[in-house]
Amino acid sequence: MVGTMQDKVVVITGAARGIGKGIADCFVAEGARVIVTDLSQDLIDAIDSDHISGMVGDAANQDEMKVLIGQVNAEYGRLDVLVNNAGIGGPTADFNEMATDSAVLHLSDASWDEQLVANPRTAFSSSSAAIPHLQSGGSIINIASIAALGPTTSLPAYGAAKAAVVHLTTTLAMELAPRAIRVNCICPGLLWTRAWEILTTQMKNKQPELANMSNREVFEMVVNDITPLGGEQTPEDIGNLAVFYASDKARMITGQVVAVDGGISVK
Ligand SMILES: NC(=O)c1ccc[n+]([C@@H]2O[C@H](COP(=O)([O-])OP(=O)(O)OC[C@H]3O[C@@H](n4cnc5c(N)ncnc54)[C@H](O)[C@@H]3O)[C@@H](O)[C@H]2O)c1
Repeated sequence: MVGTMQDKVVVITGAARGIGKGIADCFVAEGARVIVTDLSQDLIDAIDSDHISGMVGDAANQDEMKVLIGQVNAEYGRLDVLVNNAGIGGPTADFNEMATDSAVLHLSDASWDEQLVANPRTAFSSSSAAIPHLQSGGSIINIASIAALGPTTSLPAYGAAKAAVVHLTTTLAMELAPRAIRVNCICPGLLWTRAWEILTTQMKNKQPELANMSNREVFEMVVNDITPLGGEQTPEDIGNLAVFYASDKARMITGQVVAVDGGISVK
């Protein structure tokens, strides 16, 4: 059977694991030729799929991404879809953004800047490198977060960084509409990936009453507390919408932002 993405060439950044890998599997299932990028050869070598090609590149570095996209174009002869998935799900420079009293008062300049490089710059630099090569009828899909959709007192830098990804989505949608290239955004809710392993460790450090719970149990508690549909989201939930956005079925959809979050963002 011919898939909806048959022979399309799809580049997904930061996709050796986690949500990006799930998106890659969904495009492969629809017949696409999928190239994922990540930060190291070790991560690329660990990808458990014979149908996915991997390349090393920093999505926040325009020069590296120009070389990488140029190689994709030389090898595959076209580029149809860019998924800007690379990002950091929480603070890594220090743990202060998760302070229980006031995250803003404890957040360092370095942590703030780190989020702006890790999240919107990845989407900007990779898009800038890919746009000259994208086919008419192609698309860009940005992965933001429900943190972009309202105030995020516990993660102010991450929320602001992802809000910038949403804004970039509408700007690029208008810029690329004359070339019939569509740009859309997905805001994932709660997914059990490395980001939440880090976040739940931080929660346990800050909240002694959680100390005896496993990280996974803390995550399930958060999911059950705040998700109207009552369950975590999976990388495939995100990938299914990404495939739809990229398909001809969405040919009149551009500049849109959809949360895949079990209803969290409309509570
Ligand atoms: N997990 C969640 O609950 C959740 C919720 C909302 C949004 N998101 C977003 O989804 C995306 C994927 O997150 P995830 O949870 O799968 O995280 P993850 O850490 O499991 O995977 C992210 C991957 O991106 C790579 N990466 C990071 N920076 C990169 C860069 N500059 N260039 C290339 N690769 C880079 C990492 O090495 C890693 O392999 C992120 O943008 C994240 O902010 C995640």
